[in-house]
Order: sequence, then structure tokens, then C-alpha cells
Amino acid sequence: MAEELISHIDTREKKPAARTGIVICECGDKIASVLDTDLLRERSASLPGVVYTMSEPYPCNIDGRSRIRQAIIDHKLERVLIAGCAPRLVEHLFQQTMEEAGPAGRYLSVVDVREHCAYVHASNPVAAMEKATNLIEMGVARLTEIRPAQTFSSDVVKSAMVIGSDLGALTVALALADGDIDVTLIERESQLGGTIYMLQEGAKDLIAENLDIVSKHPQIQTLLNTRVTEVTGQPGNYQVHLIQDDQNFELNVGAIILATGVRPKSLDPNSWYDHSLVVSQIQFAHELEEAINAHDELALHDVVMIFRTEDAEGRECSPLCCTAGIRQAIRTKQLNPDINVTILFRDLYLGEAGGPGENLLLQAKGLGVNFFRYHKHHPPVIGKNIVEVADPLTDQPLRIPCDRVVLTMPLVHQEDAIALAAMLHLPQDKRGFILERRIRLRPGDYVDDGIYVVGGAHYPTDTAETLLQAHIAAARALRFLGRDSLTSTGLLAEVDESLCTGCGNCSQICPTFAITLEKRDGLLSLATVDLLRCIGCGNCVVVCPVKAISLPGYGDPAILAQISAALSSPGLEKPKGVDQPVPKIVVLACEWSAYAAADIAGARRMSYPADVRIIRMNCSARFDPNHALWAFLNGADGVLVGICHKGECHYGNGNLYAEERVTKLKKQLAEHGVDPRRLRLEFFTADDGLAFANLMKIFSSLMRK
Ligand code: FES
Repeated sequence: MAEELISHIDTREKKPAARTGIVICECGDKIASVLDTDLLRERSASLPGVVYTMSEPYPCNIDGRSRIRQAIIDHKLERVLIAGCAPRLVEHLFQQTMEEAGPAGRYLSVVDVREHCAYVHASNPVAAMEKATNLIEMGVARLTEIRPAQTFSSDVVKSAMVIGSDLGALTVALALADGDIDVTLIERESQLGGTIYMLQEGAKDLIAENLDIVSKHPQIQTLLNTRVTEVTGQPGNYQVHLIQDDQNFELNVGAIILATGVRPKSLDPNSWYDHSLVVSQIQFAHELEEAINAHDELALHDVVMIFRTEDAEGRECSPLCCTAGIRQAIRTKQLNPDINVTILFRDLYLGEAGGPGENLLLQAKGLGVNFFRYHKHHPPVIGKNIVEVADPLTDQPLRIPCDRVVLTMPLVHQEDAIALAAMLHLPQDKRGFILERRIRLRPGDYVDDGIYVVGGAHYPTDTAETLLQAHIAAARALRFLGRDSLTSTGLLAEVDESLCTGCGNCSQICPTFAITLEKRDGLLSLATVDLLRCIGCGNCVVVCPVKAISLPGYGDPAILAQISAALSSPGLEKPKGVDQPVPKIVVLACEWSAYAAADIAGARRMSYPADVRIIRMNCSARFDPNHALWAFLNGADGVLVGICHKGECHYGNGNLYAEERVTKLKKQLAEHGVDPRRLRLEFFTADDGLAFANLMKIFSSLMRK
């Protein structure tokens, strides 16, 4: 069955081995005190393509790197393998050395014989030596199969478009224009300013100030009654299609800032309550404003504010509504201390303890504002000049007199937010607010480098946070637009057009919408990768049924060659008193989590069975069930796929796809009589050294049985 399943694995003829050099790091004596580095050199010298070996006390320091650079030149080395410490620590240094010496830096492989051998198996130098020899073999096997990444460059258009005109939009537009960038401000309505400035502290004055500057700024063009209909192009060079008064036109910009803001839901005009009594928070803000301007005292006696008026689950809650409501209560009391103000709430969303929100609360209490919590199953009932609410402690009804009821209406995304998000390929949450790509790891990062989101389009924000977001977005956009051109970097997807059938699987799964199907000769649609959008997760490679997409450095040939090499070693001798052979375990490890955890296990000398072979993957999105099958076919007793925790994948949802693939494969294995426990999926964080070591012990002992 396994042969059937892997029948489409790339079985190209072996290429002649390129001239390869091997550098064994002694790391002072950290490696050399456990591993026999002379013997390692001797063993490495017989590997295919190896024409030169050297050992270095510290290859990563300046002298060491300069000797490596010279060796590359003298021995015409096309590929170099460094057997040293954690690749994440030193790979970039050696890549630079390779580039300085001539061949592209991608022909480099770093294998970790310090953390994964000398440190972790220090008490068993024989096993450590066997493992180090095998890791070098695996590294050479990978080197034979990798190719350099292709690169692509595109000029950056030095202009930006800001969509929206609230405080955030105006602030970012001014910051960009002051940075010598031409800015086009697009507003779908007939006037600038947005819709919720009355709820944001001091925003009205700031907006008025900014509007004056914007109107006079020579580098800002404002387009009212204008909507975006389509966005094409790529980071640094977008074509934005617009419509204004039935006129279609197009603008070419380098960056797009989405600052469409939020709007409060309107009061339901068909609701039963008395509309002369009940107003929304925004309406009340205007009422207060008018009273202040007219030096009026506000002719009311009893104001009842009801927070969280729509969603019993609090899903539409935001800190802006609570703080704006409390500010209004304070203003009411300041205008006329005799007015009774009562706030009915379920929860107060005030931000950090001791922060500005809490200070507002204390100020309001000091002025005599009453706060009263209600139960979500017994919301306040508005009657004629009375609001009735159940006391959650006594369950007794309370009747609060009122001549004004203020409802905090939920803040929701603007009407065009969904269409704009779709055009810009921006994911949204259930409420329609735009999500960052990886909120915990890189806040403020959206799908493309040239796209930024500010303020309410992301979530409702008060003045301070809006300004902060606007300045951050402007700083990032200025840095981005400051480049003359963009060049794709890293290992990115490549399409072999002679194999592509245009099935579209790749374009559907791509997390950054980097793959599109384009017509060739008017006949067939073929996958085309936008290298400035591709992040190199490898998900497309896995779903391509004809293997037309590959990822240089993490292609199937390179991964399979490592697996084969890992399982080609004779294995360790059985420990005394143990009947079963030492199980062979292959770990396909995401470099951001499981691989880093293995490094930590090594650094902390947390030992685990020496027959575990760890293969570094860029992300678990690259895990192909065929990799596991290939490992089983080649004699692996167990395969463990080590991935990032949910929500922590650096490439979006690569880990969720890996989980699904492992689950399916386990079922298939069971159906074909293979014990599914031989395939295991585990979530790690990068510092889970202890968990990694313990799991290896558990898995190995399970496989031994
Ligand atoms: Fe670790 Fe994607 S980066 S699973």
C-alpha cells in the first residue's frame, strides 16, 4: 500500500555530486571533548562529492570564516556543510561567507552536532559519534538535492493611498506626506472626518486641526464620494481601480493604508420605546455638545445609561463604548451636578488596572455617578420615564426614574469593509474586523508588506491608540516606500510549467494569495507565483497532485534524501539486557518550534535516545504524508511530526493543515494494518526542551514495544 501511495514521489535520476566541502566545528572543546573530530573528518571525506574537509576551533568567528572563504575559493567548492551548532544561530553568518566567496549562499547546510550530539549524548560518546556521522551524511544528502532560490525584483512606486478619513486616516496621511510621499485620501462620503469622533476623547478638535493642514498640504490629494472597486498588482506597485460620480479611473500606488474606521449601529426605528426619551451614545454626545456651546445646564433630571445593549454574549463589546459612556456621564455631572446619572452595566471594559479607564471610573464615582450591574438574563426594561432592572443580589426589581435613556450601540465595521478586505486579501474576524497575520508573533503585520491597517478597521480604538496605530503604520509605510525596489528573498515556491495542469489547488491553499492561475497561449491556465507575496510555507507543494511546485531547500528530493540517509545508518547496539532492537525514530521538526526545542534540550543537556533523527522543516505546512511513508518504507519504527501550537504558526495555519494530514494518514495506516501509533503529532513551543526530551523517551520506548 505504501508503495502505491508514494508512487508519484520524485524519482529523478541522481545528479553527479557537486564539489562539496565539510567544516567540522570543534567549538573550543565543547564538541571536540565528546566527538572525535579527526575521525568525523575521515568519515566525511568518503561521502559523495566531498573533495575537502577541515576542522576549525571556531568556524563562526572572523578568522574561521575567512579560512572557510579561502577554502571555498582554493578548492572551487560549490557546496559547503558546516557540522557545528544550532543553524538558527550561525547559518546567516556562513551564508554571508558563501556569498562573499562566490557560489550562492543557498548551497549551504548547517547540521547541529553540538546540541543534538555532543551535549545531549555526552555520557555516551560512541552513540554521539554515530549520530554525528549520520547527521553529516544527511546534510550532504540534502546538499546534493538543493538548488538556489530564484529572485525577482520590482520597483517601488513612491506614493500611498489612505482609504478613510477619520482621525487615524488623517494622521497617517499627514505623516506620510510630511515624509515626502504623495498621498491620495479616499473617502466614500461627501465629507471628511469619519463617524465616531464624538466618542473618542478630544478627537473632534484634532480632526478639525488635521483637516485644515490636509487641505493645504501640497502632497495630499483628497477624493470625496469615491470608492475602491478593485485592487491588483503587488506590494510596492498596486493598481487601484476607483469610481467617483460614475467615473472610473485608476491610481498606481506603492502602499495602501486601510483606515475605514467603525460606525455605531443605529437605534432600531421600529423599537417600542419612546424615541423622544431614548437616544444613542452618539446622539447624546451631540446633545451635550450643544448644551456646552450654548452654556446651557442641560435640562434633565435623571439620565440612565445602559451599556452593552445588544449582544448578551458581549461579542460586540469594545473598550471605546465603556470609556466614552463614562466620559459622557462625567460631562453631564460637570454641566449640571444636580442631574442623577446612573450607569447600568454588565461588565466594564476599562483596560489595564490603574490605567486611564480606571481613573475615569474613579472620577465618575467621585462626582456621584451611580453604577449598577445587571444580570445578562435580566436586562433593563425601558418604560415610560422608568427603567426597571432586577438587582442581581436580591433579584428584587429596581425602578430607576429617567427623562433620558442613553444606549451604547455596538460599534461595527463600515459597510464597505468586507468588500475592501476581500480586495486586499485581508482576513476578518467574525465581527468583520481585520486580523493581523500573526497577532502574537508580529502585531501590525498584514498579508502584504505594502498594506497597513489603522484604527477602527482593525478594532474600535480610542484617540490615543488610534494615533499610536497611525504613527506606527506611517513609520512602517515610510520605511517600505523608502526602498527603490523590492527583491524576493528566501526560499520561495517555484512552478515547473511543463508539469502544471492548472488544477488550482495551490492557489486555493496559499495563505498570502501569492499564486494565481494565468492563461498561457490562451489555452491552459497555469499557476504563477508572485514572489513578492510568497512566504515560502510549502503548503502549495504538498497539495500539488503532479508535483509541479517545489520549494528550493525544502523540496521533496532534499527531504526524502535526508530521510533515506537518516535510516541508512546501521543503528545502535542494543543496550545490555534489552531484547528489542533500538527503534529508529524520524522527527520532522518545524524549525520554529520542535527543532528549536531540540536545540534547547541539547543546550540543557537533557538526554534522549540517540537513534532519534531530527529533520529541520521550515514549517509543518511542508509536511507531506509521503515523507512519513518514505520513512516507514526505509525502516523507521516511528515518525513524529513536531509543530507549533495552534495560533502560533509563523506561516498562518500551516500547523492546522499538518494536523489534518497526520490525522488522515493515521487512519489510512490503520486501514492497511499499520499501527497508527507509529505516526505521532506533537505541538511544541521553541523553549520546550524538557517536553521534547521526555517525548522522545516516551515515543522511543513505545516503539521499542
Ligand atoms: Fe511552525 Fe508553521 S511555523 S508549524
